[in-house]
Amino acid sequence: MAPAMSSAFELAVPPSGLATLVFDLPGKKVNVFTRSVLSELEKLIERLAASQDIRCLVLLSGKEGNFVAGADIDEIADVTDPAAAEEGARVGQRLFQAWNKLPFPTIAAIQGTCVGGGTELSLAGNYILISDRQDVRIGLPEVRIGIVPAWGGCSRLPRRTGLASALDIILGGKSVDGKKAFKIGLADAVLPDPTFLHEVRSFAEQVLQGRPPSRRRSNLKSKLLDSNPLGRDVVFSQARKQVLKRTGGHYPAALQAIEVVEVGRRRGLEAGLQAEARATGELAVSPVCKNLIHIFKMMEASKRESASLETDQQPIREVAVLGAGVMGGGIAQILADRADIPVRLKDVGTTPLATGMAHAKEIFEKQVARRRLTRPEAARKMNLLLPCLDYSGFRRVELVVEAIVEDLRVKQQVFSELADQVGPEVVLASNTSSLSIDLIGRDTPNPGRVVGMHFFNPVHRMPLVEVVKGSKTSHQAVQAVLTLCRRLGKTPVVVKDGPGFLVNRILTFYMTEALWLLDEGRAIEDIDGVMTDWGMPMGPLALIDTVGIDVAVKVAHILAAAFADRLVLPAWADQLAQPERLGIKTGSGFYLYNGQERSKPDPAVYRILGLATPKEPSDPGDFVDRMVLPMVNEAARCLAEGLVTNPSELDLAMIMGTGFPPFRGGLCRWADLQGAEHLVTILRQLAEHNGERFQPSVALERAVEGGGIYATYS
Ligand code: NAI
Repeated sequence: MAPAMSSAFELAVPPSGLATLVFDLPGKKVNVFTRSVLSELEKLIERLAASQDIRCLVLLSGKEGNFVAGADIDEIADVTDPAAAEEGARVGQRLFQAWNKLPFPTIAAIQGTCVGGGTELSLAGNYILISDRQDVRIGLPEVRIGIVPAWGGCSRLPRRTGLASALDIILGGKSVDGKKAFKIGLADAVLPDPTFLHEVRSFAEQVLQGRPPSRRRSNLKSKLLDSNPLGRDVVFSQARKQVLKRTGGHYPAALQAIEVVEVGRRRGLEAGLQAEARATGELAVSPVCKNLIHIFKMMEASKRESASLETDQQPIREVAVLGAGVMGGGIAQILADRADIPVRLKDVGTTPLATGMAHAKEIFEKQVARRRLTRPEAARKMNLLLPCLDYSGFRRVELVVEAIVEDLRVKQQVFSELADQVGPEVVLASNTSSLSIDLIGRDTPNPGRVVGMHFFNPVHRMPLVEVVKGSKTSHQAVQAVLTLCRRLGKTPVVVKDGPGFLVNRILTFYMTEALWLLDEGRAIEDIDGVMTDWGMPMGPLALIDTVGIDVAVKVAHILAAAFADRLVLPAWADQLAQPERLGIKTGSGFYLYNGQERSKPDPAVYRILGLATPKEPSDPGDFVDRMVLPMVNEAARCLAEGLVTNPSELDLAMIMGTGFPPFRGGLCRWADLQGAEHLVTILRQLAEHNGERFQPSVALERAVEGGGIYATYS
């Protein structure tokens, strides 16, 4: 057969019969199975099936760093008819079945990211070879967007790897590197990247000679479990329990995936494929799926936006962090870890410096324990941290992150002092959580370089960084911080200067309303339980304990002064912060703690605050409305004030900074799905019964007229 060209695939059949098929979707950075690609592939498979010349076929990608990125997410986002969604699954299944039935062996040679449909096509073939390059991944992320792998993934993966490994990947929406893929039996070989194509060729030649290298099989324990019906029952019921625990039942895709895998395992491949398609019909049209896709797209847009800002500026080569406390230690650690550059860590005394360094070391050790870093790597990165008590060496740094005490006068003084110690253009970023960036930079020569870089606690775990643009902050300063955030693997959201910036401002309304519910005689566990049932990662009172009662009350006071018309604290709020009762850090707050672990609500709280002990479990009634709607009301105000560019950015910030439940799509999207008009009506009722603080904002009323928050403020 002569070499054939199509727009997405290029087939080459040399006389040896060892053919190659290169997938290279024109005009795109990554390969995607769009409808038209699928129909091309269908015709191609027909031709391949009829070929007399091919003895073995190697599938390759023409894209640098990408094998296949999966199905076209826009097509999944747009589907509204369950039957159409189901048929979409069957189209891919038929195609991959045809691939599976080709009259010669096929080899997927993966040298870049391979997810979703790419993995499923590979599974339908005979062999999977993968590069050992660290960033190469293979996986099935479908449940992350609310669907199940439905082009054969749920049915074929367990056959290759055994149930336990397959469920781990499918239910976690995970991708694994080459080494792991080989270990679990997903890949037949992991090959050195520099000689990848050469090694693929020799593998293929062995296949041609009829002596394929033996495939690594799933381990004995999983084999025993899989082959025994009782063992299988145990695996499935454990998986169900774990998913329910992790998701609170809010993410139906993972539960459905377990059922689908079970059908495939008990009743065979054909039944498994049918179940995959049926599940897709249900899931792909569900609000949870649409919300998760919305978030996926927001994140992609945010990444694109940051990438477009990146100029030919040299990446920052050395930084300094001021303050080695809870935040400074964490910021220094992540800079050394992710940016892999020297970090000067300065404090005023040796004791806090030692504590900060110990904090960083502890995080590195956890990374080693989790096998994210090897011990020598962690030691090398730890050596990038240079503790110091003065400004020596600051001439060399290209950016400073300040994380000292939250005191305006001290920060102002330190910023003007700093200006003499570093080059005139060096960006000075503050991690302040509540002070004005404009005021912090007031006495600094060239205040355009002063910018907020607000990390969340714990720094190594929380993905959000609010990048605060003061009225004088230069475009270059914002850009430098955005680029650095991306390098750290964080999601930055640019916000304007203002009390509490964005996330803490909105969140304070949520936490304050919880205090009012407590004031009315509701129980700690009832208030928090309602919100965790709703999907928040923790209830508002547990959150106050985590932030620190002293810090939360201080921030609430700052915001109450700024927004006196609508943020009012109960009279007893100041009694909350007692030196021995500041939340997790002192071992008690609203709850009692064993170390970091929350044990139970502390009944002493009611007495300390002069409240009667709640007797009966209270009817949660309007709890959710009371705690969530003030956030919606305030979010609309933030958008109207231009504090953040658009509702997508706000939603992203709330999800990344507070764990706002992703399945609800984000605060503004959730509000739009309820209907802004409906929410305004409820707020009016709440204002009538519970106080003026609930009055709908003009900004939210504007959203009613404008057809929703997204429609009005995008
Ligand atoms: P911390 O009290 O744990 O640490 C502050 C450190 O700064 C102390 O080690 C202190 O010795 C040092 N320091 C004071 N003056 C200094 C100076 N002139 N030069 C160098 N070091 C000096 O405080 P934490 O919690 O780390 O907060 C630091 C900053 O981060 C504050 O602005 C705070 O608002 C902000 N922040 C705190 C969060 C939290 O959850 N703790 C979250 C986000 C921001």
